Amino acid sequence: MKSIGFIGVGKMATAIISGLDKQKFDIFISGHDLEKTQAQAKALGVVAVSSHKALVSKSELIILSIKPQVLPKVADEILSVLTKDKTILSIAAGFSLDDLAHLMTLENMPIIRVMPNINAQIGRSTSAIVKNDSVSADSFDFAKGIFETIGSVFEIEEKDFSTFTAIAGSSPAYIYMFMDALARAGVLHGMPKALALSIVADTVAACGEMVKISGENPWTLVDQVSSPGGTTVSGVVSLEKNRFVGTVIDAITATIEKEKHLK
Ligand SMILES: NC(=O)c1ccc[n+]([C@@H]2O[C@H](COP(=O)([O-])OP(=O)(O)OC[C@H]3O[C@@H](n4cnc5c(N)ncnc54)[C@H](OP(=O)(O)O)[C@@H]3O)[C@@H](O)[C@H]2O)c1
Repeated sequence: MKSIGFIGVGKMATAIISGLDKQKFDIFISGHDLEKTQAQAKALGVVAVSSHKALVSKSELIILSIKPQVLPKVADEILSVLTKDKTILSIAAGFSLDDLAHLMTLENMPIIRVMPNINAQIGRSTSAIVKNDSVSADSFDFAKGIFETIGSVFEIEEKDFSTFTAIAGSSPAYIYMFMDALARAGVLHGMPKALALSIVADTVAACGEMVKISGENPWTLVDQVSSPGGTTVSGVVSLEKNRFVGTVIDAITATIEKEKHLK
């Protein structure tokens, strides 16, 4: 049976582990508070180990699911037991394959980088994946398969990871802000918030499907909803007068800049 070890069991690792079939894999976790890790292991149906080193020796695939700031310290801790028959997989924002290789110090260490998003919690993550040349096709397929159990996976070039992090990793926050603004407008005009939010959630979910199913450019869909002299085009023009598109693009650019300076 394949073995997977998670170092750091926060929101993301919990979401990924929840989506995995516990009968198919040996799953180990290690944190920085053994009592807490043991309670998490019990709740998730996996095995807690007392140190990151012990986890590395038991696992074929080691998933680093700690915050970027903690990554160098954890890398230091596991270095002495790391061997090239293992694969390291990092989901930390801002750490490139080269950065990770530098931290792991072993020459030709197989390393995979994945950027999932928070929708992993409902099995709908949008993840990006890239590997270095030392990762075998089998190990890559294995890792990719893990993230496919919790959503969709895009194989992208590493140069696009910062952009992906912004438009898929961080964008759920911006989409929630947009949704809340729509619902708040509903409240302003007399609708209860819960009802307005429910209507907005259905509409946003269907719009995502519509873009995928129709294959249309979103602007074509905007035109389809905008009748001449009608209500929708008034709102579209108002959004544009307030720099809607430019504001969103500025937010994504700010996210990319921040991601590049995380280390
Ligand atoms: N959340 C997202 O939407 C998202 C999206 C894409 C990528 N990511 C990446 O996923 C990684 C984890 O993010 P997250 O949202 O899951 O963060 P999180 O909920 O804060 O999880 C991090 C976990 O690491 C534990 N930890 C701290 N120091 C540790 C140590 N020395 N050894 C072992 N465990 C330690 C923390 O424990 P305590 O809480 O007890 O300190 C916490 O449980 C990050 O690198 C982030 O960039 C997150």
